[in-house]
Order: sequence, then structure tokens, then C-alpha cells
Amino acid sequence: MTVDLRVVEDGPALAVHAAREVVEQLGAALERRGEASLCLSGGSTPRATYGRIASHHRGDLPWERVTFAFGDERCVPIDDPQSNARMARDTMLAALGVPSGHVLRIEGEHGPAAAAELYEARLHGHFGDVALPTFDVLLLGVGDDGHTASLFPGDTALDASGWAAPARAPVEPRDRVTLTFDVLRAARRTLFLVSGAGKADVAERCLRHVGLRDGATDDDVPPAARVVTPDANHVTWLLDEAAARR
Ligand code: 6PG
Repeated sequence: MTVDLRVVEDGPALAVHAAREVVEQLGAALERRGEASLCLSGGSTPRATYGRIASHHRGDLPWERVTFAFGDERCVPIDDPQSNARMARDTMLAALGVPSGHVLRIEGEHGPAAAAELYEARLHGHFGDVALPTFDVLLLGVGDDGHTASLFPGDTALDASGWAAPARAPVEPRDRVTLTFDVLRAARRTLFLVSGAGKADVAERCLRHVGLRDGATDDDVPPAARVVTPDANHVTWLLDEAAARR
């Protein structure tokens, strides 16, 4: 397992660095296997990275050979401004010309339980009869309560088995679907994108728990820090200076 910390100047620099890393890792997977998979994060932080990929990397890869999936989704219609699938479509997927069949969307509009079941079946359809789906690149964010994807502190989804689970957020939209810890931990290359002073406290907590910062840790391990385990592959915490406040 490799876990490392990279600090860049600011939000725009984080988008440049993250976009370059995503393209590099997907390119290596395409070289190796002729196909690649990218699991997208929701929220606001990754918007700039997705926009950077669309504006500066469209010609760098055969994007039609990349399959896109989502770490989580809100249980809202796809055209709802809070939909992660809509955000990814509008900031990147449409611009890259990704065929809709290459996007494994979480159909949150069916409600958390049904959508989780549908998503798990869709993942099995793509990855086949494997113990866990292995994404070549997984993008994750961190909420200020330490959640990642839709794995929120205290929620039953933290203990879910399988590949996808219904989840409950403490803020609207409360009904969600999330990949489970097992799936997040199986990714070949994970990038946490953490930007802004508002994330400095939770970033410090996570970095201490994963051994990238010295200092006392509380017993309450943030879900984002629980993605990193001894058998995880390569996890990079990519922060801007405001989030990495020293
Ligand atoms: C979501 C995300 C979620 C997000 C964090 C950070 O659906 O909201 O998947 O896990 O990454 O909440 O969100 P920001 O990037 O907006 O701070």
C-alpha cells in the first residue's frame, strides 16, 4: 500500500494536477488492457478537475474506451442540479463525447434501495464475475464531517457488504446511494481532492489517521480515512495550501 500527500498552491493548480494524474493513470491502463475505468466523485471540488480534463485533455486519450462510474449519487432525477451525474455530464462527459452506454450511472430517481440494487447489477454487468470491481482511478472528496462518497459518520452504509448500498446523509438530499468501503479500497489508484480552508481541520484529522501527519488522533476515524488500509493500493491525498494549512 502506498499513501502519499501532495500539496499544490490553490484550487486551479489542484485541478491541473488532478486532471494530469487521471489522464496519466487511465493512459497506462489503456496501454496495459485496452480499456480503463474511472470512478467519479460528486460534490463541488471535482468540477474544476472535470472541466480541466474536458478543456485540456480531450485529445489525449481514446475516451470512448473509458468506462465512467460514480462513487455515490443523490436520490434525485438526473436533471436535478444536485445530481452528481448531471454535474459530471455538464462539466466533462458531454464535452468528451462519452457515449451514454459508457457511463454507469446510479439511477437515484428510483430511491436508495432499488437504485443501489440496480447499480450493483450494472457494475457486475461491466466487471463480470469478480469478487470486487477494480477501478483504475477513483476520485473521492471529503466532507467537513469526514464523509467520503456517501459514507457518512454513524450511517448503516459504513457497515454495508456488497458493492453498493443505500445511504442516509445528514443534509438534503438525505437519500443517497454509495459504493461500499470494500469497493473504494479495491481501486488501483485513488485520489482524494481536498480544497479550501474549510477542509483544513478534517484534512488534518484524516492525514493523522492515515499516518501522513504526526499528532494525536481521536478514536472516531473519519470515513474518508477508513478508505486507506494496509492492502489498499495507491492513495494520494491531493490538497491545496489552504486545506493543507500547517
Ligand atoms: C457528494 C460527494 C461527497 C463529496 C464531499 C465533498 O455526493 O456530495 O460524493 O462525498 O465529495 O461531500 O464535497 P465538496 O467537494 O462539495 O466539498
